[in-house]
Amino acid sequence: MLYIGIDLGTSAVKLLLMNGEGAIERIVSREYPLSFPHPGWSEQEPADWLRETKAGILELTEGFDKSQIAGIGAGGQMHGLVVLDENDQVIRPAILWNDGRTSEEVDYLNNVIGKDKLSLYTANIAFAGFTAPKVLWMKKHEPENFARISKIMLPKDYINYMLSGVHCTDVSDASGMLLFDVEHKCWSKEMLDICGISEDVMPKIFESAQAVGTLRPEIAEELGLPENVIVAAGAGDNAAAAVGTGTVGDGACNISLGTSGTIFVSSRTFGVDKQNGLHSFAHADGNYHLMGCMLSAASCNKWWMDEIIGTKDYAAQQAAITDNKLGTNHVFFLPYLMGERSPINDTDARSCFIGMTMDNTRSDLTQAVLEGVAFGIRDSLEVARNQGINITRSRICGGGAKSPLWRKIFANVCNLDIEVIESEEGPGYGGAMLAMVACGEYGSVEEIAKKFVKVVDVVKPDPEIVARYEERYQVFHRIYPALKGLFPAING
Ligand code: XUL
Repeated sequence: MLYIGIDLGTSAVKLLLMNGEGAIERIVSREYPLSFPHPGWSEQEPADWLRETKAGILELTEGFDKSQIAGIGAGGQMHGLVVLDENDQVIRPAILWNDGRTSEEVDYLNNVIGKDKLSLYTANIAFAGFTAPKVLWMKKHEPENFARISKIMLPKDYINYMLSGVHCTDVSDASGMLLFDVEHKCWSKEMLDICGISEDVMPKIFESAQAVGTLRPEIAEELGLPENVIVAAGAGDNAAAAVGTGTVGDGACNISLGTSGTIFVSSRTFGVDKQNGLHSFAHADGNYHLMGCMLSAASCNKWWMDEIIGTKDYAAQQAAITDNKLGTNHVFFLPYLMGERSPINDTDARSCFIGMTMDNTRSDLTQAVLEGVAFGIRDSLEVARNQGINITRSRICGGGAKSPLWRKIFANVCNLDIEVIESEEGPGYGGAMLAMVACGEYGSVEEIAKKFVKVVDVVKPDPEIVARYEERYQVFHRIYPALKGLFPAING
């Protein structure tokens, strides 16, 4: 049988077709626009996701025996607010995970309601990208839209709804809404009250590897697929990527370098970081995880290469960055192109280069961008280490993980063995695995991960480079606090 994995990302939807042995038969990718209607805002049209996902499924399955397709599972960009009216029409563009418009609502939630209460209700505090502050923003700024809300859902849940007709979500993605009691895996009545919404508008909650239903007959016909294709609940993209990299069970770690950058630590037990610097979410394997999220990771490099240098040949730009240069760069880059989430939680933070002298070359700045992202992930890693979590190795996935240089920088900045796995298709591969479990082919997510995920290389840190980076990291760590007070004025 065949399984479709969907990675509903921020710049594109990537789809893959996986066979029953876990081998990828085909991958397709289709882009859609991202709009920034004001500085720091970030929106997308759900209709674009749907159109490209359906077109992607047609492209992906062309030439294959479609009767063999048994299941579909999606990993999707998290936290985005999608609202439908009573006729199932999208009310406004989705407000995305990297949108920073809700600083007032975040302030209200964290400081008036209070972090202690939020943490008690949901295991998390408010961050601008989370869903609940966006609901409050809509209530205040778009009351006519707010009054029309009949269904609230997350991005991949919109796709699942349009495919299956079931208004559903899964525990990992629900965790990022700040409306979900993560420990008990149910909606938080207190948070729904605070946001002024009733439980009727919220999706039904499933475990990620559960089947939510099958294809709507008209969709099956449109896509040429059997009506009994199972739609799995799927997961937030980070939990799906963790499944796809075998980051399941207890104490496993994954770094994902996509538009965002995340560090994800799986755990069999529920736990909350005392400072709430890391998110405490349910995992797609039925357990829990802690996660730190940077808003701009591979997107910093993409911005630097595409917009500023004007090239698509990233490898050529990285060629001059040889081992002897690692840990010696006196140029630093703050990776806060969209403000920052973990661990500093500051929508006003901005990027900058600092430390240049006349002898610096373009490649020093390229190196600073790659290093700035690694230092940003190290900030979250330090929060985890301060909680007593011992992390010595991590898997890596996402577009940025394709660069051998960047993997080496991560290994040395974070002093971790970086495990490279056979398929870097994180969320899409994890989505297809979840579909396979939902179809009953495997008894658990951990079982399929053990069978399918293979480590093909390990990048080991070099003690000399680690020592040099340690000194550089201590400098990096002081730059944001020194500039923090300036950002609101810089932003105007
Ligand atoms: C995680 C987060 C991002 C998005 C990106 O909390 O906001 O990783 O899921 O797609």
